[in-house]
Amino acid sequence: MQEMSRRNKLFTESVIRRMTRIAIANNAINLAQGFPDFDPPKAITDRLAEIAPLGPHQYPITMGAPNFRQAVARKCGRFMGRTIDPETEIVVTIGSTEAMVDTIFALTNPGDKVILFSPYFENYHAQIIMADCEPVYVPLVPPAFGFDANVLEDAFRQGVKAILICNPSNPSGKVFTREELELIASLCVKYDAYAIMDEVYEHIVYDDNKHIYMNSLPGMWERTVSCSSLSKTYSITGWRLGYAIAPKEIMERIKQYHDFNTVGAPAPLMEAACVGLNMPESYYEEFGAHYAHMKKLFTDGLRNLGIPFTDPQGTYFTLIDIGPYLKKGQTDVEFCEEMAVKVGVACVPGTSFFMEDVQNIVRVHFAKKDETLTEALNRLADLKTKMA
Ligand SMILES: Cc1ncc(COP(=O)(O)O)c(C=O)c1O
Repeated sequence: MQEMSRRNKLFTESVIRRMTRIAIANNAINLAQGFPDFDPPKAITDRLAEIAPLGPHQYPITMGAPNFRQAVARKCGRFMGRTIDPETEIVVTIGSTEAMVDTIFALTNPGDKVILFSPYFENYHAQIIMADCEPVYVPLVPPAFGFDANVLEDAFRQGVKAILICNPSNPSGKVFTREELELIASLCVKYDAYAIMDEVYEHIVYDDNKHIYMNSLPGMWERTVSCSSLSKTYSITGWRLGYAIAPKEIMERIKQYHDFNTVGAPAPLMEAACVGLNMPESYYEEFGAHYAHMKKLFTDGLRNLGIPFTDPQGTYFTLIDIGPYLKKGQTDVEFCEEMAVKVGVACVPGTSFFMEDVQNIVRVHFAKKDETLTEALNRLADLKTKMA
């Protein structure tokens, strides 16, 4: 038999999704894969029930249903502070995941370099490799997850095609400041690089932190693709609805990859989800307040238990320092597997996010009902004894 593709030898099975399988097999609370266990807004599911007998049930318009694209344009235009053309500047995708893949393929050629901050969301590495590109890593240094401007500029000097940024950032919870984004923007302009933004956590930002859209900074609309989705903002991760927003010239290229890869996003789900996109401003305020409540419940609990963690500025993740609980020679992967079995809580080993050799960090998420978080905290109460 002929050799199969060499590309995917360079990446392994998703650790996050593997931890989900381990959680299910062991009846553990799944704080590994980030999805809520509470319902989406009722107005969205009511609309889904309403249209079930009516449709649309056939192939969608490839670029996305016109009313859905118009709703994305209105909503995102409001938050990004610009008019977005639903005909030429938006494509509706199978989650932000597809939007990112299409974008990377649309902007790069094999052998191109793409800057990635480490820690990074595990999908990005595989997506860059799939496009036959090479990641260039720039560390975000814990605990504040700042970066060294000189190290970043050194990375740009390597002749990169793009920088890929998750803002707010999974797994670090970092929300990039205006100053940081302006610095990155100036380097993109100076070195003629694109900015590929993953902004799925745009509405989950805490305290005085503010999410700023890269494409709203001077000189950046022309070279930025903003990828996002409805997964997190409307608690519908299973609907697989996302989108990319970019200037017409870039969008034309992205659309080609989308067209031949997926044909289009699910037609009935686009129709039902329009209700979400058309929600008033107050929805996003209440949504943010709900996440602030979950974050407080969970992180207060960790603090009371004496478990060291990072306080996120955005997203629904925190990084726990497992240093005090690790056995000699135990890896973070072994720790997470043992913890799912013995403690009944599943989390993700930090090595799936960091390029650097860190063994003492795991990621947990708190997008869960109060009772789920309380039960998880109960199970974590005697972590040291259970993991001894
Ligand atoms: C940073 C980030 N981007 C993208 C995704 C996936 O988004 P979607 O469901 O829109 O494909 C996730 C899911 O956890 C994520 O954390």
